[in-house]
Amino acid sequence: MNGIPLVDLLVQHVQIAEEVEDGFVEVLLAGDFIGGKAVSAFEQEYAEFVGVRSCIGMANGTDALEMALRAVRVGRGDEVIVPANTFIATAEAVIRAGARPVLVDVDDDALLIDPARVAAAVTARTRAVIPVHLYGQVAPVEQLPPELAERGVVVIEDGAQSQGATRFGRSAGSLGALAATSFYPGKNLGAYGDAGAVTTDDEALATRVRLLGSHGSPSKYLHTQVGFNSRLDTLQAVVLRAKLRRLAGWNEQRRAAARVYDRLLEGVPAIRRPVTLPGNKHVWHLYVVRVPERDEMLRQLNAEGIGAGVHYPVPVHLTPAMSWLAEGPGSFPVSERAAGQILSLPLFPGITPAQQERVVEVIRTALDRRTA
Ligand SMILES: Cc1ncc(COP(=O)(O)O)c(C=O)c1O
Repeated sequence: MNGIPLVDLLVQHVQIAEEVEDGFVEVLLAGDFIGGKAVSAFEQEYAEFVGVRSCIGMANGTDALEMALRAVRVGRGDEVIVPANTFIATAEAVIRAGARPVLVDVDDDALLIDPARVAAAVTARTRAVIPVHLYGQVAPVEQLPPELAERGVVVIEDGAQSQGATRFGRSAGSLGALAATSFYPGKNLGAYGDAGAVTTDDEALATRVRLLGSHGSPSKYLHTQVGFNSRLDTLQAVVLRAKLRRLAGWNEQRRAAARVYDRLLEGVPAIRRPVTLPGNKHVWHLYVVRVPERDEMLRQLNAEGIGAGVHYPVPVHLTPAMSWLAEGPGSFPVSERAAGQILSLPLFPGITPAQQERVVEVIRTALDRRTA
């Protein structure tokens, strides 16, 4: 068996190649490059998929987070609560909007924002909280403290890793005042370059996001505020439309693959398997196990051609650009411990049980070597 990548995007591409080529040709011939027909069609289809009134295409997920924050007028002097275990972009967007990220630790089972810790982090300056639906499952947003709503604190979801996930039947992207998502190529719904979106049920907020992303311009050459250039590219919208039609099926394949790993790893006590919170329909953006001496395990998997990875090896507050957000090691023990143990195993629509058996065989051999 050849190597097994962490993600195999080609498996998806071959299924949509013809549709994408036809769509590209249509855009090229029409010269419909900026804000083209495919963009509005995708926005409508994605809003329907999520179950909200509006979707605004953006250039990438980080911009989407920033525009969502700016749309609710988060800015200088404000605080935004963010989990310490996330991709740096969540905190980055807060800083770019002019506010301060206030980090909180995650729960030790699902590694998602811990609602109890959110309550302890709220101050008079708190304006928003960003639950991150990490690895493909929705954070327990309904458990966030009721005082958030009383204080007017806005919930903005970071749904970059959760397209198609639901919690008690409600879709990721429809649970906060606004939600941001990323269509980075490796995401469950991935473009062929950078892309992202904001979703919301609030039409006034949707209008503000759209304005912010298009030079503060409600109509050509009228600029009512200083904005940004952050638009979903028309060619990317062509790809996203083709993939969105298949997303539910692909997510189903991810769930089946996760069940295969669950079964294969059941008898491997050194491996801590991922936990799905009750009420969640997981879409397995990543299958993240925990294992002691992770780096050595990762090295051995990679040496055998298995593209395992780590998401993420350094919690936000220990990364040099963000070290000013906390007091160093020991600040967020659950995130810090997890960062040393988490290991993402290859998982993508189309991965075969034989490939998964091979991954687990290498894991078992590496563990046997330890005890030998
Ligand atoms: C949790 C999370 N938030 C935000 C982002 C930022 O998205 P992008 O890379 O499209 O800017 C990503 C993905 O890269 C992510 O995984």
